[in-house]
Amino acid sequence: MLSQLDQIQSEGLAALATIHDEAALENFRVAVLGKKGSLTSIAAGMRNVPPDQKAVVGAKLNEVRTALTQGIEQIQLALQVAKDAESVKGLDITLPGRPSPSGALHPLTRIRDKAIQTLRRLGFALADGPEIETEWHCFDALNTPADHPARNEKDTFYLPDGRLLRTHTSSVQVRTMETVKSLPVRIIAPGAAYRRDEIDATHLSVFNQLEGLYVDKNVSLADLKGTLEYFFQEMFGEKTQVRFRPHFFPFTEPSFEIDVKLEVKGQADKWIEIAGCGMVDPAVFTAISQSRGDQVFDPNEVTGFAFGLGLDRLAMILHGITDIRHLIENDVRFLAQF
Ligand code: PHE
Repeated sequence: MLSQLDQIQSEGLAALATIHDEAALENFRVAVLGKKGSLTSIAAGMRNVPPDQKAVVGAKLNEVRTALTQGIEQIQLALQVAKDAESVKGLDITLPGRPSPSGALHPLTRIRDKAIQTLRRLGFALADGPEIETEWHCFDALNTPADHPARNEKDTFYLPDGRLLRTHTSSVQVRTMETVKSLPVRIIAPGAAYRRDEIDATHLSVFNQLEGLYVDKNVSLADLKGTLEYFFQEMFGEKTQVRFRPHFFPFTEPSFEIDVKLEVKGQADKWIEIAGCGMVDPAVFTAISQSRGDQVFDPNEVTGFAFGLGLDRLAMILHGITDIRHLIENDVRFLAQF
C-alpha cells in the first residue's frame, strides 16, 4: 500500500505539471481526491491494514493527500494570476485618472449670498413677499399714481384678475411695514422682478433685485450713504468709489441713483449705475398708516431709507459678463468658469 501511495503521488505531481487550464485541473482533482478518486479508494483500504502498520500508512496517506492538494492549489493560483494579467493587458496604470466634474454655485447665487451676508452684518434681516402682487402693494402704497408710465400695460405683466407680476421688490417694503409690530424695521429682500422689456444683452423680462429698507426714528441720509458706501466697498473692494446722483422715484424723497467707479479690464475706469435709493417718502408712511389703522409709521415721527439694486448687474460687473442672457442659459461651459 505504501508503494501504491508513492506511485499516486509521483504520477499525480507529474500529471499536474502538464495541466494548463481550469477544466483539466478540476478533472484531475475529481480523479484523485473525488469520491471515487484513486486516493479516496486507497484510503478506504485503511481498515484492512494491520493495526501495527496503521500509523505509518495513515501518515503516508496524509502526506500524499497534502502534497497533491498543495499541487492543485499552486496550479489554481498560477491559472488565476495568468487570468488577471490577461484581463488588464494593455491597461496603462500610469495614466492620470479622469476627474469627475464638481458642481459650483451659480454666479448670481454667489453674489446674492455675499450681499445678504454683508447686509446681515449691519443688522438687516431677510424679508419676503409674493411675486404676483396687487397694484396696491406694487404701486399705490408706494405713491405711484395711476398714470405713472411704470403701470402701463406695455411695461408690466398684468394678470386677468388685475394683479400683476411685481415690477420691483419695493413691494416687499409695503408688505413688511404692513405686518411688523414695532420699529425699527431693518430688512433686505432679494427676489425676482418682472418687466415687459425687449430682451437683449442687458435686459431680460425677469431679473433679480435686492431691496433694503430701514425705518426708525431719526434715520438720516447720512445713514443711507454710510450703509451703501460700506456695502459697495465690501462687494467690490475697499477702494471702490461710490457716487450718489439726484434722481426721482415716487416712493423716496430725495431720491438718488448710485454709481460705482470700477476698473474694467482694458478700459478706462467707468462709473456704472447700480442701484436706486432714497429717503422713504412720507406719503408712503401715510398709506401704510391708513392700511394698518395705527400710528407706528406716523409720517411725523419716523423716517427711513430704502434702496434697490440689480443683482444681475452686480454679477455681470463683478465677473466681466457682457451678456445678461448667459445668466439664464445654463450653459455648462459658461457656468464652469465660476
Ligand atoms: N424700485 C426701484 C427700481 O426698481 C429701486 C429703488 C428701490 C429706488 C428703493 C429707491 C428705493 O428701480
